[in-house]
Amino acid sequence: MTETLLNTNMHDIHDIQLIRQKCVDNTAHLSTHPKSLNELIELLYEAFATNDVNIDYVHTIMNNYKGNVKEWAPFLKFQPNKYTRNLVDAGNGKFNLMILCWAESQGSSIHDHTNSHCFMKCIQGTLVETKYAWPKDGGENTETPMEIISRTELKDGKVAYINDSIGLHRVENPSHTDTAVTLHLYVPPYSHCSVFDERTGRTKEAHVTFYSINGLLTPSE
Ligand SMILES: [Fe+2]
Repeated sequence: MTETLLNTNMHDIHDIQLIRQKCVDNTAHLSTHPKSLNELIELLYEAFATNDVNIDYVHTIMNNYKGNVKEWAPFLKFQPNKYTRNLVDAGNGKFNLMILCWAESQGSSIHDHTNSHCFMKCIQGTLVETKYAWPKDGGENTETPMEIISRTELKDGKVAYINDSIGLHRVENPSHTDTAVTLHLYVPPYSHCSVFDERTGRTKEAHVTFYSINGLLTPSE
């Protein structure tokens, strides 16, 4: 496939935009079946070696990666009051690979992705992703309940994808008895996003933090 994720400005990684165009596939020689988390990370580094990134290839290796709980163990950190974000690899500043741990009944706010591209793979349990349309006035002075676009169950290693042009979303572990774990890839990484009130559509900025980095709890947590 020839869809690419292209950085149009070599000096600013945040200018990466999804551009659909014909181009040379620089991932044709790479494996599409990573056999371990380390191999998945190695393939991501190769896929992101230039600023022309084959988004279909990234989707394929995220989808084909099976992995096991042994290699996720350093990043499996559950908290009773909030789901945790655990950084697995910072991707030379071009991407963030992280594991999110959802205790029973935990969920995220409705949020955007700050012009990043988000791949989310369910590696344990079941998640529900609810997609929302953007509030009509961007969330400034609205009092209108947010419109749901879709509601999708995610399990068994399935990969979901979202970016701001698709809409906003909330992710929830609907189970009262089982935990859930997701593997996320963000391109490029971001530290702030907007969160939205479902009843009014109003928005505010949120700082996103890591509960752990490379398996070690971050000092503020
Ligand atoms: Fe998200």
